[in-house]
Amino acid sequence: MKILVTGGAGFIGSNFIRYILSKYPDYKIINLDKLTYAGNLENLADLEKNKSYRFVKGDICDQKLVDQIVGEGIDVIINFAAESHVDRSLYDPKVFMQTNVLGTQTLMESALKHKIKRFVQISTDEVYGSLKEDESPFTEESFLITNSPYSASKACSDLLVRAYQRTFDLPAIITRCCNNYGPYQFPEKLISLFITNALDDQELPIYGDGLYIRDWIYVEDHCKAVDFVLHKGEVGEIYNISSNVEKTNLEITHLILDCLKKPSSLIKHVKDRPAHDRRYALSAEKIRKKLGWEPEVSFEQGMKLTIDWYIKNKDWWQKVKSKEYLKYYERHYIRREKL
Ligand code: NAD
Ligand code: DAU
Repeated sequence: MKILVTGGAGFIGSNFIRYILSKYPDYKIINLDKLTYAGNLENLADLEKNKSYRFVKGDICDQKLVDQIVGEGIDVIINFAAESHVDRSLYDPKVFMQTNVLGTQTLMESALKHKIKRFVQISTDEVYGSLKEDESPFTEESFLITNSPYSASKACSDLLVRAYQRTFDLPAIITRCCNNYGPYQFPEKLISLFITNALDDQELPIYGDGLYIRDWIYVEDHCKAVDFVLHKGEVGEIYNISSNVEKTNLEITHLILDCLKKPSSLIKHVKDRPAHDRRYALSAEKIRKKLGWEPEVSFEQGMKLTIDWYIKNKDWWQKVKSKEYLKYYERHYIRREKL
């Protein structure tokens, strides 16, 4: 099978490529990635000499380039490429619409032109909006009600994928996963930021009261679920992916501090994120029952693996942080105060 993975130099895409090539060594993967601030070729340095893997630097909005790649006999497209950080979407929404919506459309046009066998759109539980504490987890039938420009852009692309599937028979499937954590996550998201800040004895900025709830999954379990969808999923369907681990941000923060033996005085309550979704929780009954996928890594195991990885890979995240992170966070916190 020849797969075009987009956004494969990012967090989940790089974990996915490594997982697929170790499980199916005869598959061929082309990784198309623009290498934005979040894309890092070091995430896949171990695959540089692997003959089944090829990297192409480029934008998923570039129709000519995408056509050229898909025309090389691609069987399947798996679209991980996206602007993925909610906070950034508050300050610069346009690039979210460009990549997440128009980029997806560009890929689908090539997919139709070259009659590919399957198009998997990697989406998110954020398209369902926010849940109250006593409400049942979202299912694939829940309404799409978005609150941030990021989630709105992902919902737009989901609807466009649905429209291309229904109108033009694009063999598309959508997956919607909850919050991922694990190795190679850019240190701007809660768990990767807080582990690396704590290791550096820097403040951990908790938005608002810290009682916001997210549903967490270890990244390899997400990759395995996408593998199930790729091979067994039904065209036109949507599959939620979750391991049903609901935690408040403060619970996660204390776990990180305890594991690293750091003091809780590092916690700093800062101004809340605008339109901050209170709770995400996702039912994964459909993928479990229909495709037989089950998450394998408990939250405790996953957090231990993740924290150990960041301890052992200080060079990786220190380089990433010095390149982009400080520049961004200075701007970010100045602007946050004004929102
Ligand atoms: P990430 O930000 O770590 O990586 C995104 C990758 O896409 C980067 O390598 C970047 O260079 C690339 N990219 C961005 N714009 C591009 C463009 N125009 N053309 C080509 N490449 C481009 O993101 P992630 O956390 O790995 O998320 C991957 C996907 O999974 C996204 O679609 C995201 O919406 C979705 N998702 C993420 C989570 C999560 O918790 N991180 C949960 C559910 C769904
Ligand atoms: O639910 C899936 C989504 O999870 C993905 O679609 C997104 O790509 C991914 O970024 C993530 O979005 P969140 O907004 O949930 O993730 P983030 O790590 O930014 O925030 C998680 C929670 O932690 C949220 O309640 C905000 C809070 N937070 C986050 C940061 C970065 C803080 O309190 N302080 C922080 O510094």
